[in-house]
Amino acid sequence: MWKGKNRDRAGSRAPSTVLPVRTDEAHGEATGWSNRLVLGDVAHALPALAGALAGQVALVYIDPPFDTGGHFDFRATIPGARGEAPRVPVRAYSDARGLDAWLEWFHETAVLLRELLVEGGSLYVHLDAHVAHYAKVLLDEVFGPGAFQREIIWRIGWISGFKSRARGWIRNHDTLLFYAKGKRPKTFHKEYLPYPPGYMRRDGNPPLGKGYPIEDVWNAGGVDRLDSIQIMSFSGEKVGYPTQKNEALVARVVRASSGPGDLVLDCFVGSGTIAVVAEKLGRRWVACDEAPVAIHSTRRRLLALPAVRPFVVESVGDAPPAARRRLSVRSRVEGRRATLELASFGVSPREVPARVRAGVTHWSQWLEGWCVDWDHEGGALRVGSRSWRSRGEASLPLAATHAYRRPGSYVALVKAFDVLGGVAIREVRVEIPR
Ligand SMILES: C[S@@+](CC[C@H](N)C(=O)[O-])C[C@H]1O[C@@H](n2cnc3c(N)ncnc32)[C@H](O)[C@@H]1O
Repeated sequence: MWKGKNRDRAGSRAPSTVLPVRTDEAHGEATGWSNRLVLGDVAHALPALAGALAGQVALVYIDPPFDTGGHFDFRATIPGARGEAPRVPVRAYSDARGLDAWLEWFHETAVLLRELLVEGGSLYVHLDAHVAHYAKVLLDEVFGPGAFQREIIWRIGWISGFKSRARGWIRNHDTLLFYAKGKRPKTFHKEYLPYPPGYMRRDGNPPLGKGYPIEDVWNAGGVDRLDSIQIMSFSGEKVGYPTQKNEALVARVVRASSGPGDLVLDCFVGSGTIAVVAEKLGRRWVACDEAPVAIHSTRRRLLALPAVRPFVVESVGDAPPAARRRLSVRSRVEGRRATLELASFGVSPREVPARVRAGVTHWSQWLEGWCVDWDHEGGALRVGSRSWRSRGEASLPLAATHAYRRPGSYVALVKAFDVLGGVAIREVRVEIPR
C-alpha cells in the first residue's frame, strides 16, 4: 500500500480524457500499417493508442525510470566542431518522483499496458533493485495470479574503475520481470547459446543438443556474452543517450517473445533501441517517449538503417514540443523543376555554452538533417526529399530539387532538425508556370 493508492482501482484504469493523436511526419508511403513513434507522456499516449490497439500488442518491453533520483542528459555531438567540447548536454529526463508517486504512476501504467496486450501477450519490465521488488508485487496484482513467468537477472558486465571502489557488495545487475497476460505466453521461442568450438560431452562424444538453453541469469557464464554498452568506452552502438540499452539484450527479448509481423511496444523508448531492433527483426512497432530528445534520437537511429520501413512521428497531449529554431530557405524554379536551398539556420545562443559555439564555424554544422514535403496540403509533413547525416558525417547536402508533374501553385513544407533535438519549420510557396 502506498500513499494515495485507491484500492477500488486495482486492475482497472481510472477513466481519463483521451487526447487526440496528431501525425507530425510520415516517413515513407505505407499501404497499410505504419510503425509509430509517439511523443507523449504514457498517461496520455497509452489511452490514446488503446482506441485502435487494445488487445493487439504481442510484446511490451519497457525500461521505465526506476526512481533513481537522478537527472539524465543526452550528449549531442556537433559534426566537425573544433575545440574542447563538441558534446553538448541536453536534458533528456529526470527520475526523482519519490517512491509513493512512482508506485501510483507505475500502477496506472501497468493497467494501461495490460489493456493493450493481446491475450497471451508478454510483458518485460526492465528495472533495478530501487523498485524491482515493489514492481513485482504490483504487477502480480494487476496481471493476476499465475501471470508472472520469470525474474531475469542481467549481469551488467565486468567491474572496473570507480565501480570497483564502491563500499560493500558491488551493484552489478538489473532485473527484468517477465509476465504474460493470462497464465501462459502464447509465443515463446526458446533460445540456445552455441557450444564452444570443440565441445565434447563427458563420454567423449559430440553434443546432441542445440546448444545451452538460455537460463534466467544473463551474461553470467562464459558463453553468454551480453555486456552493457554503457561500460564499453568505445562501443559503436552508443548514441549519446545516457540509459541506452544494448540491441543484443532487447533483441533476445523480441526474438523469444514475438514472431515476425507481431506488434511490439515500448512506451519509454529513450534512444530508440526497441524500434531499431524491431525493424531489424521484422516486427511492427509502436514506440513512445515524453522527451523530445528521445524522439530525435530514435528518428535518427531509424533513418541510419539501410532500409527503414514506413513510419510516422506523432504527438499526443501536452508533451513539450522540440525546441524551435530559425531557418531561412531560398527557392528557384526552372521549368517544372523547383530547387530549395537552406540559407541559414540558428540555434539560440542561450542553449549552447559560448565555448561550444566558438567551435562551430558554419551554421550547417548544427543540422542533423532536413526533409521536404513538396505538395503540403496541411496536416502531417509527408517526406518527399530527405537529406540526413545520422552518424555525424561531415557533409550534408543543403539543396534539394523536385520535378512537379503539373503546373500550379504549391506549398512546400521544409522541416530541419538539429543535432540537439530542435526543429525549424518553414513553408515556401512554389509557382510552377504553364
Ligand atoms: C531508461 S530510459 C529508456 C532507455 C531505452 N530503453 C534505450 O535503450 O534507450 C527511460 C525513458 O523513459 C522516458 N520517460 C520517463 N517518464 C516518462 C513518461 N511519464 N512518459 C513517457 N516517457 C517517459 C524518459 O524520457 C526516458 O527516455
